[in-house]
Amino acid sequence: MTGFPCNVGKISTPRLSSGAERAEGGSSTAGGEIIGDMRTQTSFAPLAGIETELLAVLAADTQTAKGPEAKALPVLLTADPAVQAAAAAVLASGEFKAGANEFLLLHAPAGLKAKRLLIVGLGKQAKATVDKVRSAAGSAVRYTKPRAIRELVFALPELDLLPVGPSSRAAIEGALVGDYDADTYRSDRKDLSVQSFTLAVVARVDKAAVEAGFAEGVIIADSQNFTRVLVNEPGNKLTPTIMGQRAAAMASEVGLDCEVHSTSKLKELKMGAFWSVSQGSEEPPALIVLRYEPKGVKDGPVLGLVGKGITFDSGGISIKPGQDMEKMKYDMAGGAAMLGAMRAIALLKPNVRVVCVVCAAENMPDGKAQKPGDLQTAMPFNAETPGKTIEIINTDAEGRLVLADGLTYARQLGATHLIDAATLTGACVVALGMVNAGAFSNNDETFDKFNAALATSGEKFWRLPLGDEYAEMIKSDIGDIKNTGGRWGGASTAAEFLKVFADETPWIHLDIAGMAWVEDSRPYIAKGPSGVGVRSILEWVRSY
Ligand code: BES
Ligand code: MN
Ligand code: ZN
Repeated sequence: MTGFPCNVGKISTPRLSSGAERAEGGSSTAGGEIIGDMRTQTSFAPLAGIETELLAVLAADTQTAKGPEAKALPVLLTADPAVQAAAAAVLASGEFKAGANEFLLLHAPAGLKAKRLLIVGLGKQAKATVDKVRSAAGSAVRYTKPRAIRELVFALPELDLLPVGPSSRAAIEGALVGDYDADTYRSDRKDLSVQSFTLAVVARVDKAAVEAGFAEGVIIADSQNFTRVLVNEPGNKLTPTIMGQRAAAMASEVGLDCEVHSTSKLKELKMGAFWSVSQGSEEPPALIVLRYEPKGVKDGPVLGLVGKGITFDSGGISIKPGQDMEKMKYDMAGGAAMLGAMRAIALLKPNVRVVCVVCAAENMPDGKAQKPGDLQTAMPFNAETPGKTIEIINTDAEGRLVLADGLTYARQLGATHLIDAATLTGACVVALGMVNAGAFSNNDETFDKFNAALATSGEKFWRLPLGDEYAEMIKSDIGDIKNTGGRWGGASTAAEFLKVFADETPWIHLDIAGMAWVEDSRPYIAKGPSGVGVRSILEWVRSY
């Protein structure tokens, strides 16, 4: 593979960092690709003595009573006496309630070497979670960035209900995810990235757990940001071919096997469903295949990660309305999530084999485009089983077509368990809003493992139903199935369509249409690509 265009003027997109750049304080990405300039390290020194531009500490509200009389009782989540003294007056004033992502900034705090003390609210103490530590660290970084403060020391909260390893991981994840902004194409871009982030932890804790969680968090957040950079790319900057090149470059950096195929391979494999989407575009498709094979693992499960990689979805002949069509550049977010998860897998080295298939194509309406009413034949699993025939009702239901052949191919490559991710249906967004992503499964045991992974990832997925009645809605009069099931239950009929191609293999389908793009910037994450799915898919893989 040749290199990819990675510089736009003087703006740098992902680039190599030396392992050493992240090695201080024990964290290292082993030469991975990083996004910003942030140096990350841990410190076990007392907070009062740390010289820094900004020291951030968390506070929680300990009030348990409800009602109008129940005033907030904010307490600092650090026992450091100097920090306690510096914040005592303002906490007593009642001006700061320690609500989630509420901030209070003190300049020249008495008794501290830090130039500024930032108190970040965590909300009710009884409801404190590791996930809230992730958001708090993210919002501390996002508070710091626009003020052009370039370094931040973040004190890990001292709370018995928050274990140090997972909360160290969450803190650095939040910080790195919070540091990302989708502004790489601004010609007057000022890189306001926080240059140095230190996680300050009290000396008496399990330091090994802190360092391990921290090192993992760096890899995971960098991988999530890798996904976000891809998702942010406009359709003309990230064609299927370029997505293949970006995947190959990442794979060679982290040591994954990678093959990128195009039209001739689709024809050879008889991927009639995938090709039918691609045929209406000048841009050739890319069939991206990554493999992770840990040494010595010769049996056990093979996990198959399949991603929708539509680099632009115009709808095809069933063309979309102009309103919001530009958003369809992020219709490859499922594929990008799989690539980010593979990056993290390669660096974290779980003991299970993984194969990843991303089906990248552009959905366009030219003279060669498929038409409503056309009949397509999906990829056959083997010589004995013919490919399923698909009646095209709506060319805008293209994601399920590329995934159909992607799922079959992953099974052919030996996948014993499947997970797919796709910005698949508007119906899923209607059902769940921009709060939860949808999840579907044909196997409770497999799904339970995914659900358990969510506790670690902090991402929100909600299981939605499959069922024979939905399967009935996609039966075709002239072939096996049709690619849409009518107006109602659109997320479930789409999932039923995919289920046909998962066949008997335990399978999870993630519909991330409403969650792949953050519409309004939040305190802990910028407007733009979210990188949803990367952390949960990774944790699911690590649970095998
Ligand atoms: N990429 C879209 C789904 C989508 C919608 C993603 C909103 C992100 C935000 C998908 O290919 C699509 O067009 N789905 C159609 C299916 C319909 C024609 C059955 C939809 O949901 O309207
Ligand atoms: Mn579509
Ligand atoms: Zn689409």
